[in-house]
Amino acid sequence: MLNVVILAAGKGTRMQSDKPKVLHTIAGEPMVHHLLGTVRSLNPSFIIMVVGHKADAIKQHFKGTSDVAFVKQQPQLGTGHAVQQMMPHVDTMDNSITLVLYGDVPLVSPDTLKALLQSAKDGKTLSLLTQTVDNPHGYGRIIRNQNNSVTGIVEHKDASPEQLNINEINTGILAAPTHLLNQWLSRVHNHNSQGEYYLTDIVQLAVEDGVNITTAMPQYDWETLGVNDRIQQAALERLWQRHQANLLMQSGTTIINPSSFDLRGTIDSGKDVSIDVGCVFIGNVILEDGVKIGPHCVLKDCTIGKHTQVHAFSHVDSSTVGESSNIGPYARLRPGSELGNETHVGNFVEIKNSSFGNNSKASHLSYIGDAIVGESVNIGAGTITCNYDGSNKHQTIIEDDSFIGSGSQLVAPVRVERGATIGAGTTLTNDAPEGQLTISRSQQKTIFGWVKPLKKT
Ligand code: UD1
Ligand code: CA
Repeated sequence: MLNVVILAAGKGTRMQSDKPKVLHTIAGEPMVHHLLGTVRSLNPSFIIMVVGHKADAIKQHFKGTSDVAFVKQQPQLGTGHAVQQMMPHVDTMDNSITLVLYGDVPLVSPDTLKALLQSAKDGKTLSLLTQTVDNPHGYGRIIRNQNNSVTGIVEHKDASPEQLNINEINTGILAAPTHLLNQWLSRVHNHNSQGEYYLTDIVQLAVEDGVNITTAMPQYDWETLGVNDRIQQAALERLWQRHQANLLMQSGTTIINPSSFDLRGTIDSGKDVSIDVGCVFIGNVILEDGVKIGPHCVLKDCTIGKHTQVHAFSHVDSSTVGESSNIGPYARLRPGSELGNETHVGNFVEIKNSSFGNNSKASHLSYIGDAIVGESVNIGAGTITCNYDGSNKHQTIIEDDSFIGSGSQLVAPVRVERGATIGAGTTLTNDAPEGQLTISRSQQKTIFGWVKPLKKT
């Protein structure tokens, strides 16, 4: 049995924000969501979040979440006091393990936590996640004896000059048998430089009780970095993005500049996919084999078919593009656009809630909304579907092989039948019959001898 306690009662002063620190984001997700995702993958029996400062905003954020219990710590008397707040809510006599996490250390991985829990699983061991760092300033230091066994943790503010040289630090994350943790916490005092009940003091009590202490280290250094201000937030964001880019590159995706890569969700990327600079990927994005994404594109919840190219400055949202198509530059596919294979959507073309058949083209400056566009249709520059009458949306149907002349308005509901041609500049208000040329333009005429008005003096 596993209990997880997430400490999130601290002030977060250095964020300079009205928002609780743990709701600030990394990769587009509140920090605490990253942590909860990881925690849930461990299948705990309880998840308890200790809240204090801005507790109401945190609880409000999690309204409707049933697998997290909130415990208020008021006042905040230290990390030991914080963990103690969970004890009335769990069975302290069972043989469960409690895992302590920090809400502002969001990116610790499931594998690292599994390794930590593995070494605590006999139910008799205190297991600490530690790390060796170049600059241990500010962290609690791990004290070991000549046998290399851990004998204590000394906070930076309480450390002797000699202890300050130790560069194995306490990440704060630990796992302990719940019943022992409960006993130790009741014995922790606050006789230290900060007048706080330190969670770290349980280490010395474990030593006194002859309890085995082990340590585990994270797989990656950045996993245990905390966020105290927006500079650290940005630094952690970059490290995380670089890691995501590395994973994609390892699986066969070219990323032209991995330091300007931004993933706020997941990418499922095939072979020989290439991603140019400055792109943002949001939600679940699928890029099939051979897809090329040009510079500065934004792709959200979409699937791009094999060998399709999305050119610079295009925006694809909740849409699907088939194979071997060309999208953009400067194309915008809004939610519900379903494009077939070998399509072409050129610059300043907006498509919304429409299907767009194989081999169809809209190369320049169009709006296609609430439409069904068949196969091999050519939509001329400046064509607009007038889908909205001010109150309701209506559908435009453009059947296979038809040709829409430039600058036409298709006033929905309306249908262009198979193989029809619409003359340039037509305002189509009635259906256009199959195979015929339909045109609504008035006859062109020239007024010979017309005189330009003169400017009045
Ligand atoms: C703590 C550790 C230190 C470790 C460091 C790692 C202690 C005494 N020290 O120090 O050994 O190297 O983390 O980052 O544990 N919190 C509460 N209630 C409180 C106090 C804190 O919920 O009363 C929460 C904070 O919101 C935060 C976490 O606990 O999420 C850590 O608190 P913080 O004061 O930042 O601990 P450090 O002094 O950094
Ligand atoms: Ca502190």
